[in-house]
Amino acid sequence: MNAYLAASEDEVKSLGKKIVVVKNMEMGIFYVGGSFYAWRNVCPHAAAPVCKGLINGTTLPKDVYEYEFGRENQILRCPWHGWEFDLVNGHHLAPDSNAKLRGFEVKVEDGQLYVMMS
Ligand code: FES
Repeated sequence: MNAYLAASEDEVKSLGKKIVVVKNMEMGIFYVGGSFYAWRNVCPHAAAPVCKGLINGTTLPKDVYEYEFGRENQILRCPWHGWEFDLVNGHHLAPDSNAKLRGFEVKVEDGQLYVMMS
């Protein structure tokens, strides 16, 4: 694994996300709940630039006719067809879906964010 400089820690913290290019691959660096995550900017559904989507929460699993909104700022919504992805683990939120964002480890060193890639 090699470490590739992707962004400054302060920049991503203040914006919540930044889209960068590392090794000719576009990805989004996200700051969620005090940690950084890097996801490739390609939706597993139909290859939209998913990292350009809105960051929001989602409707939590509940009984019929019960609605509760939660997970604020932890969910990425694809701009093309609205699939929702968990920004912490990359999983598509639909029940029984195996779709997942492709992610990379992010390391923080001296105020800089490095994406780990082979
Ligand atoms: S391309 Fe992302 S939901 Fe369709």
